[in-house]
Amino acid sequence: MNGAFPGAVESSESIRLALRSWPEVDAYLKDCKGVIIPLGSTEQHGPTGAIGTDALTAEAVALEVGRLTGVLVTPAQPFGMAEHHLGFSGTMSLQPATLLAVLHDLVLSLGRHGFERVFVINGHGGNIATAKAAFAQAHGTAASRDMPVAPQLRCRLANWFMAGPVMRQARDLYGNKEGHHATPSEIAVTLAVEPSLTSKQRPLPDPAPAGPIHGPEDFRRRHPDGRMGSHPSLATAEHGKALLETAATALSEDLRNFLSEA
Ligand code: NI
Repeated sequence: MNGAFPGAVESSESIRLALRSWPEVDAYLKDCKGVIIPLGSTEQHGPTGAIGTDALTAEAVALEVGRLTGVLVTPAQPFGMAEHHLGFSGTMSLQPATLLAVLHDLVLSLGRHGFERVFVINGHGGNIATAKAAFAQAHGTAASRDMPVAPQLRCRLANWFMAGPVMRQARDLYGNKEGHHATPSEIAVTLAVEPSLTSKQRPLPDPAPAGPIHGPEDFRRRHPDGRMGSHPSLATAEHGKALLETAATALSEDLRNFLSEA
């Protein structure tokens, strides 16, 4: 894949915005107006999953997409909308309005410098509605402030775990044991990225089924160990490497299309 797109790079390190100087960002903008923001969440992922699962996975996928496409990757936003997970220790949530304001401000910061295509790689379903609302708000603000970027500004949400090839692979690997939260596919990606997490894994009893969520207390009552219909003990680091590659390939294709759209 490397070299298929102008600017594709060999190493994931050099694709990090955080490691670039501002003159380097200026130079980058002469060739490419695209940027990737990894968006995660810091929330319980069942009795054996890492609290940082959604941030670890979003950043890992984003860095691989960056490496494949040459598009810069910003630092990950590790906190998301996780109000319904607050019944479990370690969860740190932003209210929807707070997350909306954070994403709005980040998009406008990037737009001010001339980034026209903001590709948010998301690891958490609870962020989707708020991220879309933030994009709408950012478009409105850019227009009302007459920002030069306003007519060209585009934002796209790419939920890696919902990409068609990823969902097919998860179904092939885990069938109906994939479930809806603390899924073996997302846990597998964390094992690939952070091998120390393998030591936490152990067989678990059948989880509570998936169902409606009405708030943190209700979530904990319905899903006492935090899982929703999932069997994360099926996850392996090898699965995680394969899922990461599938996600990065699929999202790189989406990103290339996004960058070339009028
Ligand atoms: Ni998750």
